[in-house]
Amino acid sequence: MKTEERTFVAIKPDGVKRGLIGKIITRFEDKGFKIVGMKLLQVTPELAAKHYEEHQGKPFYNRLIYYITSSPIVAMVIEGYNAVESVRHIVGATNPLNADVGTIRADFAQIMEYNVIHASDSVQSAEREIGIYFKPEEIYDNWQSMQEIIAYDEERYNQQGL
Ligand code: CMP
Repeated sequence: MKTEERTFVAIKPDGVKRGLIGKIITRFEDKGFKIVGMKLLQVTPELAAKHYEEHQGKPFYNRLIYYITSSPIVAMVIEGYNAVESVRHIVGATNPLNADVGTIRADFAQIMEYNVIHASDSVQSAEREIGIYFKPEEIYDNWQSMQEIIAYDEERYNQQGL
Protein backbone atom coordinates (compact mmCIF):
# COMPACT_ATOMS: atom_id res chain seq x y z
CA MET A 1 0.00 0.00 0.00
CA LYS A 2 1.35 3.43 -0.87
CA THR A 3 0.67 6.28 1.50
CA GLU A 4 1.95 9.77 0.93
CA GLU A 5 3.78 10.88 4.07
CA ARG A 6 6.16 13.48 5.40
CA THR A 7 9.14 12.71 7.57
CA PHE A 8 11.74 14.72 9.45
CA VAL A 9 15.44 14.30 8.69
CA ALA A 10 18.43 16.04 10.26
CA ILE A 11 22.01 15.94 9.00
CA LYS A 12 23.74 16.03 12.37
CA PRO A 13 26.80 18.13 13.32
CA ASP A 14 29.28 15.44 12.24
CA GLY A 15 27.63 15.25 8.80
CA VAL A 16 27.83 19.03 8.42
CA LYS A 17 31.42 19.28 9.70
CA ARG A 18 32.57 16.50 7.39
CA GLY A 19 31.09 18.16 4.31
CA LEU A 20 28.52 15.45 3.67
CA ILE A 21 25.46 17.67 3.20
CA GLY A 22 25.39 17.37 -0.59
CA LYS A 23 26.04 13.63 -0.69
CA ILE A 24 23.26 12.97 1.83
CA ILE A 25 20.67 15.18 0.15
CA THR A 26 21.49 13.49 -3.17
CA ARG A 27 20.41 10.12 -1.75
CA PHE A 28 16.91 11.45 -1.08
CA GLU A 29 16.64 13.36 -4.37
CA ASP A 30 17.83 10.31 -6.31
CA LYS A 31 15.09 8.26 -4.67
CA GLY A 32 12.54 10.73 -6.06
CA PHE A 33 11.48 12.23 -2.75
CA LYS A 34 10.40 15.87 -2.62
CA ILE A 35 12.22 18.09 -0.12
CA VAL A 36 9.51 20.47 1.08
CA GLY A 37 11.41 22.04 3.98
CA MET A 38 15.11 22.63 4.56
CA LYS A 39 17.30 24.86 6.73
CA LEU A 40 20.70 25.11 8.38
CA LEU A 41 20.25 25.91 12.05
CA GLN A 42 22.02 25.88 15.37
CA VAL A 43 20.20 23.58 17.80
CA THR A 44 19.83 25.20 21.23
CA PRO A 45 19.89 23.09 24.40
CA GLU A 46 16.13 23.76 24.77
CA LEU A 47 15.41 22.56 21.22
CA ALA A 48 17.64 19.51 21.74
CA ALA A 49 15.80 18.63 24.97
CA LYS A 50 12.45 18.79 23.14
CA HIS A 51 13.67 16.71 20.21
CA TYR A 52 15.26 13.99 22.36
CA GLU A 53 12.82 14.04 25.31
CA GLU A 54 12.25 10.27 25.02
CA HIS A 55 15.96 9.71 25.77
CA GLN A 56 16.06 11.85 28.92
CA GLY A 57 17.67 9.94 31.78
CA LYS A 58 19.47 7.45 29.51
CA PRO A 59 23.23 7.06 30.02
CA PHE A 60 24.05 8.63 26.65
CA TYR A 61 21.63 11.58 26.99
CA ASN A 62 24.04 14.32 28.17
CA ARG A 63 26.59 13.50 25.48
CA LEU A 64 23.84 13.39 22.85
CA ILE A 65 22.70 16.92 23.80
CA TYR A 66 26.32 18.14 23.82
CA TYR A 67 26.91 16.64 20.38
CA ILE A 68 23.70 17.81 18.69
CA THR A 69 24.31 21.39 19.89
CA SER A 70 28.02 21.41 18.90
CA SER A 71 27.53 22.97 15.44
CA PRO A 72 24.68 23.61 12.99
CA ILE A 73 22.52 20.84 11.60
CA VAL A 74 20.57 20.67 8.34
CA ALA A 75 16.90 20.05 9.09
CA MET A 76 14.63 18.75 6.34
CA VAL A 77 11.06 17.76 5.73
CA ILE A 78 10.89 15.04 3.10
CA GLU A 79 7.71 14.03 1.31
CA GLY A 80 6.95 10.87 -0.62
CA TYR A 81 5.29 7.49 -0.58
CA ASN A 82 5.82 5.67 2.74
CA ALA A 83 8.44 8.33 3.43
CA VAL A 84 8.94 7.42 7.11
CA GLU A 85 9.86 3.77 6.52
CA SER A 86 11.55 4.36 3.20
CA VAL A 87 13.81 7.11 4.53
CA ARG A 88 14.72 4.89 7.51
CA HIS A 89 15.83 2.21 5.02
CA ILE A 90 18.06 4.69 3.22
CA VAL A 91 19.45 5.97 6.55
CA GLY A 92 20.20 2.50 8.02
CA ALA A 93 20.33 1.16 11.58
CA THR A 94 21.14 3.51 14.50
CA ASN A 95 24.38 1.67 15.09
CA PRO A 96 26.42 1.96 11.86
CA LEU A 97 27.91 -1.45 12.68
CA ASN A 98 24.49 -3.01 12.05
CA ALA A 99 23.52 -0.80 9.11
CA ASP A 100 23.10 -2.49 5.73
CA VAL A 101 25.77 -1.75 3.17
CA GLY A 102 24.63 1.06 0.91
CA THR A 103 22.79 2.92 3.65
CA ILE A 104 23.98 6.36 4.73
CA ARG A 105 25.11 5.20 8.17
CA ALA A 106 26.92 2.14 6.82
CA ASP A 107 28.66 4.18 4.16
CA PHE A 108 29.56 7.29 6.18
CA ALA A 109 29.61 6.45 9.91
CA GLN A 110 31.55 4.17 12.24
CA ILE A 111 29.96 4.57 15.67
CA MET A 112 26.49 5.21 17.10
CA GLU A 113 27.47 8.46 18.85
CA TYR A 114 28.46 9.97 15.50
CA ASN A 115 25.93 8.44 13.15
CA VAL A 116 25.68 11.42 10.79
CA ILE A 117 21.90 11.61 10.41
CA HIS A 118 18.57 11.40 12.23
CA ALA A 119 15.25 10.29 10.72
CA SER A 120 11.85 10.02 12.40
CA ASP A 121 10.89 6.49 13.45
CA SER A 122 7.11 6.78 12.98
CA VAL A 123 4.47 9.01 11.43
CA GLN A 124 3.66 10.36 14.91
CA SER A 125 7.33 11.15 15.64
CA ALA A 126 7.61 12.80 12.23
CA GLU A 127 4.67 15.11 12.98
CA ARG A 128 6.10 15.95 16.39
CA GLU A 129 9.64 16.58 15.11
CA ILE A 130 8.51 18.60 12.08
CA GLY A 131 6.52 20.75 14.52
CA ILE A 132 9.60 21.31 16.70
CA TYR A 133 11.85 22.45 13.84
CA PHE A 134 9.49 24.02 11.30
CA LYS A 135 6.71 26.60 11.31
CA PRO A 136 3.89 25.68 8.88
CA GLU A 137 4.89 28.61 6.63
CA GLU A 138 8.43 27.23 6.31
CA ILE A 139 7.16 24.18 4.42
CA TYR A 140 6.76 24.60 0.68
CA ASP A 141 4.87 21.94 -1.24
CA ASN A 142 3.17 24.27 -3.72
CA TRP A 143 5.56 23.35 -6.52
CA GLN A 144 5.82 20.51 -8.99
CA SER A 145 8.83 18.32 -9.53
CA MET A 146 10.43 18.60 -13.00
CA GLN A 147 8.96 15.21 -13.86
CA GLU A 148 5.44 16.45 -13.09
CA ILE A 149 5.98 19.64 -15.13
CA ILE A 150 7.24 17.73 -18.19
CA ALA A 151 4.29 15.31 -18.09
CA TYR A 152 1.83 18.21 -17.73
CA ASP A 153 3.41 20.26 -20.56
CA GLU A 154 3.57 17.21 -22.82
CA GLU A 155 -0.16 16.66 -22.42
CA ARG A 156 -0.89 20.32 -23.20
CA TYR A 157 1.39 20.28 -26.27
CA ASN A 158 -0.34 17.15 -27.54
CA GLN A 159 -3.79 18.70 -27.02
CA GLN A 160 -2.72 21.76 -29.04
CA GLY A 161 -1.08 19.67 -31.75
CA LEU A 162 2.33 21.19 -30.98
P1 CMP B 1 19.10 9.16 16.56
O1 CMP B 1 18.44 8.40 15.48
O2 CMP B 1 19.26 10.63 16.35
O3 CMP B 1 18.33 8.94 17.94
C1 CMP B 1 18.96 9.06 19.20
C2 CMP B 1 20.43 9.22 19.10
O4 CMP B 1 21.18 8.99 20.26
C3 CMP B 1 20.96 8.21 18.10
O5 CMP B 1 20.56 8.55 16.81
C4 CMP B 1 22.45 8.26 18.39
O6 CMP B 1 23.10 9.31 17.69
C5 CMP B 1 22.51 8.63 19.87
N1 CMP B 1 23.00 7.54 20.72
C6 CMP B 1 24.16 7.56 21.37
N2 CMP B 1 24.31 6.44 22.10
C7 CMP B 1 23.21 5.69 21.90
C8 CMP B 1 22.77 4.43 22.39
N3 CMP B 1 23.50 3.70 23.24
N4 CMP B 1 21.57 3.97 21.97
C9 CMP B 1 20.81 4.70 21.11
N5 CMP B 1 21.17 5.92 20.62
C10 CMP B 1 22.36 6.40 21.01
